[in-house]
Amino acid sequence: MSSTIIAPSILAADFSRLGDEVESVVRAGADWIHLDIMDGHFVPNITFGPAIVKALRQRTCRPFDCHLMIAPADNYIAAFADAGCDIITVHAEAGPHLDRTLQMIRSLGRRAGVSLNPSTPEQIIEYIIDRVDLVLLMTVNPGFGGQSFIPAVIEKIKRVRQIIGDRQIDLQVDGGISLETAPLVRAAGANVLVAGSAVFNGNSEAEYEVNIRAIRRAADQAYSLDVREAR
Ligand code: DX5
Ligand code: ZN
Repeated sequence: MSSTIIAPSILAADFSRLGDEVESVVRAGADWIHLDIMDGHFVPNITFGPAIVKALRQRTCRPFDCHLMIAPADNYIAAFADAGCDIITVHAEAGPHLDRTLQMIRSLGRRAGVSLNPSTPEQIIEYIIDRVDLVLLMTVNPGFGGQSFIPAVIEKIKRVRQIIGDRQIDLQVDGGISLETAPLVRAAGANVLVAGSAVFNGNSEAEYEVNIRAIRRAADQAYSLDVREAR
């Protein structure tokens, strides 16, 4: 696996200028745009829905990485697919029929992701591994940006990387990713890093570019060091 994929979360952007912020962060080097969808029920916060996603879709061709923190999710998946999401990730904790939900996402021609809260055991992944294109391990409790990274998830990342093996499945982390934690998660086996506050810190496109480059460099260095050590 090569360069780290950086997926800025627009939860930390200026919501009054969201379209411009998406364009800025893309020019600043974002690989994917991470969209945090919260319902005030599965998580104690509310963000935005498919109409906003559809409007933002006009602003960039970069993959839209949709993180659904909603329960139930099934009734809204088609709307987010129609709105232009490329990857749709649901929480394993959000519904009783995860296998069916993942099949639904793929049947709509979208990449299917599954997310686990920090306290959810990773063994569940083994049962749906052939139905997913991405595994998202939460490194904070979902609901808010700017929280502290939970170090216990580092060992979980290693275990999920083992379960994934040679499969073409992205391993994503989300929450508290910074210059300090990016190397830790990358060395443990994550290849997609979501970052909100660490990217949007500074409120200007030039700052976003500096932030993205620094996170990517810190992660890539940790990965190549790790690979060299393993030889
Ligand atoms: C939290 C969201 C995250 C959040 C990350 O529920 O899923 O994507 O925006 O924010 P930071 O990077 O600030 O922890
Ligand atoms: Zn997220």
